[in-house]
Amino acid sequence: MSATGKQRKRVLMVGLLCQDILNLVHHYPAEDEDVRCVDQFWQKGGNAANSACVLSSLGESTEYLGAVSSRAEASSALQELRDFSVLTEHVVYSDCPIPTSCVIINMQTGSRTIVHGHRNMAELTAEDFSNLDLHQYKWIHFEGRNTAEVCKMMGIVEEYNNNVATPDDVIILSTECEKPKYKMGHLIPKVDVLFVSKEYAESCGFCNAEETVTKLLQRVKKGCTVLCAWGDQGADGITSGGTHYHCQAFAPEKVVDTLGAGDTFNASVIWGLCRGTGLEEALRLGCRIAGQKCGQVGYKNLH
Ligand code: ADP
Ligand code: FRU
Repeated sequence: MSATGKQRKRVLMVGLLCQDILNLVHHYPAEDEDVRCVDQFWQKGGNAANSACVLSSLGESTEYLGAVSSRAEASSALQELRDFSVLTEHVVYSDCPIPTSCVIINMQTGSRTIVHGHRNMAELTAEDFSNLDLHQYKWIHFEGRNTAEVCKMMGIVEEYNNNVATPDDVIILSTECEKPKYKMGHLIPKVDVLFVSKEYAESCGFCNAEETVTKLLQRVKKGCTVLCAWGDQGADGITSGGTHYHCQAFAPEKVVDTLGAGDTFNASVIWGLCRGTGLEEALRLGCRIAGQKCGQVGYKNLH
């Protein structure tokens, strides 16, 4: 396939779409305090949904796939994805309440405290996934959750990749080890790009991003790139050949909202790698755009 043909293909982000209810406060409340917030609004949330919006804003043709509440209360989250020009035609509807996060954003520090309710929402199954025509995609990112089913979905992509006509048709697979409670061990050797969060790294006993990428490189498949974001310390990445890069964080004038900084980082790195930048430049894009996100509320106009 020509380079242009490949460019026309989509990136697919698979995972959660939820409702975030943001409360912007001047100071973090004490337990049992009765505070007034500076602002309060609804915003779509979920790692895959957030990353999809960022990728689409950056100009990448992007689709979101997940199990989505069919109830009226969920319509604004889905509409917000569409407002970011994210394609949603294959979402699987389920008659469950929409998972919801109540988020306190401390405007003094930008910290985000999340209380998430999954509310028994259904998860996407491998059977749902098997209905997709994989020819449309060049990259599929699976949020690190629902791992038994995701493992089967990755198996479907591996099978597809083993039978493509040309190497250009091969779909790149990525995932993020984010929350330690999801046992991700068997997904790690399946992907071409592995993102690891600070929380996950610490749960493995790693002390910094460099140690994380170096140690995890021993557990991935041949050719895999590993990245680890570490909040205001920036991020590290390592190529399959063992070349290590560090990029410092890009501090905005004022950090006001760090919700989804990691999702923004992942999307921006994927964007860079899709455009053929090397790892060093993709890492820089990830830190630059995630830094920009931390300096503003929400995800609009990231570039
Ligand atoms: P998560 O949202 O998953 O907790 P991180 O906090 O690790 O993700 O942040 C991801 C990336 O966002 C970091 O690598 C960094 O580039 C950027 N970032 C996070 N916090 C800050 C900050 N306070 N100032 C500037 N950049 C930040
Ligand atoms: C940010 C986020 C929020 C959501 C929460 C779910 O990374 O995706 O939008 O409420 O995490 O864990």
